[in-house]
Amino acid sequence: MTGTAGQINFRMGRHPKGGCLPDIDDGEFADWARLLEQKTGLFIAPERKSFLATGLRTRMRETGCKNYREYYLKLSRGAIQAREWSLLVDCLTVHESCFFRHSSSINLVEEVVLPETVDRNEGISVWSIGCATGEEPYSLAMLIDAYRLKCGKKFFFGITGTDVSLPALRHARKGIYLNRRLSKINAEFQAKYIRSVSDNRFEVVNTLRERVCFAQLNLRDIEKSPFGGVDLIYCQNVLIYYHRERRASLVECLVPILRPGGFLVLGPGELLNWQHPKMKKVPYADTLAYRRIQE
Ligand SMILES: C[S@@+](CC[C@H](N)C(=O)[O-])C[C@H]1O[C@@H](n2cnc3c(N)ncnc32)[C@H](O)[C@@H]1O
Repeated sequence: MTGTAGQINFRMGRHPKGGCLPDIDDGEFADWARLLEQKTGLFIAPERKSFLATGLRTRMRETGCKNYREYYLKLSRGAIQAREWSLLVDCLTVHESCFFRHSSSINLVEEVVLPETVDRNEGISVWSIGCATGEEPYSLAMLIDAYRLKCGKKFFFGITGTDVSLPALRHARKGIYLNRRLSKINAEFQAKYIRSVSDNRFEVVNTLRERVCFAQLNLRDIEKSPFGGVDLIYCQNVLIYYHRERRASLVECLVPILRPGGFLVLGPGELLNWQHPKMKKVPYADTLAYRRIQE
């Protein structure tokens, strides 16, 4: 596919579900990776070649395409284009998440972000970027609600979870999970914030779900996002989809969205040596967090 889609060469390989579907070679990989980055902002590292091939094959099988060229043409033309791009992006992103996933970051929110924010504001607004199926924003909601009861101060809080994946967001809105997801939710929070709905599933209670809303947003379009005055931006396991330089420019776009004094919590190791004149690193073990300087 170098240059134009019409130049795709492909070799045949056996698809895991049977039937012959093409293998992807290094040249094809480079072309697909470039196209995906241009169109969707997704960066697929060379070591994830087989992951890309599996995703492409899934969609090729679903759309009845016999080779990469045919699928490429389908993606570039025709009425199904927008929907098909969205389905492909869904195949190429991992929506794995869990409640209270990174305990040090959670402790940082509880011990630093909440006391500092509640002291200065009458409310807390939180944005969970790349929220997947909702475990992250619901965990933050449990933490904030419990803190509110504990500190005895009345304050409003609201959380927005955004993700590029519509199926993940649909799941998040329902707020229903398999019981095996319970293991990271402590007994106190289980008693307060979840309710069993069947032998093997539970749901997040309505009073908490009312605090959380979900919307589709591709991080690529962050500059056009309507967010502002946010006290806490929580963004973990999402920047990994981007090149190192792109990560820094994306995070830069988050700075003006934070309220002065607001916090940005990233996943440790997801951004190296980043500095910004308006942001100060928050010293807290095993975390990567910044605070916007108060002006
Ligand atoms: C591994 S999950 C992380 C979920 C959660 N933040 C956590 O740490 O448990 C990564 C999520 O990022 C989302 N994502 C990937 N690229 C994105 C993009 N360009 N814009 C928005 N979300 C994206 C994926 O759809 C996926 O749901």
